[in-house]
Amino acid sequence: EEVPLKTLYKDAFHIGAAVNPRTIESQRSLLKYHFNSLTAENEMKFSSVHPQEDLYTFENADIIAAFAREQNMALRGHTLVWHNQTPNWLFENESGGLVESDVLMERLRSHIQTVVGRYKDVIYGWDVVNEVISDDEKDESAYLRSSRWLDIAGESFIAKAFEFAHEADPKALLFYNDYNESNPHKRERIYRLVRSLLDQGVPIHGIGLQAHWNLYAPSLDDIRSAIERYAQLGLQLQLTELDVSVFRFEDRRTDLVHPTKDMLELQAERYESIFRLLHEYREHISAVTFWGAADNYTWLDDFPVPGRKNWPFLFDEKQRPKEAYQRVAGIA
Ligand code: XIL
Repeated sequence: EEVPLKTLYKDAFHIGAAVNPRTIESQRSLLKYHFNSLTAENEMKFSSVHPQEDLYTFENADIIAAFAREQNMALRGHTLVWHNQTPNWLFENESGGLVESDVLMERLRSHIQTVVGRYKDVIYGWDVVNEVISDDEKDESAYLRSSRWLDIAGESFIAKAFEFAHEADPKALLFYNDYNESNPHKRERIYRLVRSLLDQGVPIHGIGLQAHWNLYAPSLDDIRSAIERYAQLGLQLQLTELDVSVFRFEDRRTDLVHPTKDMLELQAERYESIFRLLHEYREHISAVTFWGAADNYTWLDDFPVPGRKNWPFLFDEKQRPKEAYQRVAGIA
């Protein structure tokens, strides 16, 4: 008998899934049965909801918000400030040059007021700032990723985003979210950023560990160290975009049409050890969200190798529980 994940982990953390209007249809019963939290995969990003200065497009975001309301599921907002999926108009003036900092910040404030305000009845927390830490380990001065946000406004756009979000919904939990979060070098940079925001009195309440992992990396030790380090900040932690790719990041093979038995066994073991660890740290972790729900749809079908199928979840292409599900279910 297949016990709902959300029931098994009820006393530990929310079990979430990223969704879009198509998967809400094609995975509807799976989502309702196993998950008690949702994130919009793309539909609440800046380009999706605010493609032009005077045009907001909420149709797809509204579909996801309506599903969460109707099913009484927790909903996370994703995301307000990012270097991707953000329209050019935001950074540009009429002659196509870059705007001044105060103009960019006023546009951001207005965007956040509108988007956060619209969903304040259903969204309990937002990934306010996404992926601003640099992955470049060689250049210590490049601690923040280069972006038009940084070029125009300097570091202050980060604190401002949190302040605007707090102003728009004082009850919302506000997260800093990033990937490669378990890499020791990047971990210390993320720690430093969040520490400095807290020291400045910026309203920030949690850290999102994206957790785009694979069968081999990051190591369990690195994951554990990251959780312990971030927990020292006294904030809640969430895994926000968990998937376990069957390929190493560098692996470019494209010949597989089904996962091998070995991959599925390794994946089951990997998920088991991950969830053991997460369960152990459940006092610090409030939600674990997968970046999808079942292997019939994942963004990894196109990333980093376009058109290559991947099988990163607990449920297979027919939405049936995999061995990995059995192992994860066995822990809680
Ligand atoms: C991804 C979506 O899954 C894709 O559909 C889209 O093409 C690109 O973005 N980090 C994030 C997510 O914070 O928003 C990204 O989502 C995956 C990486």
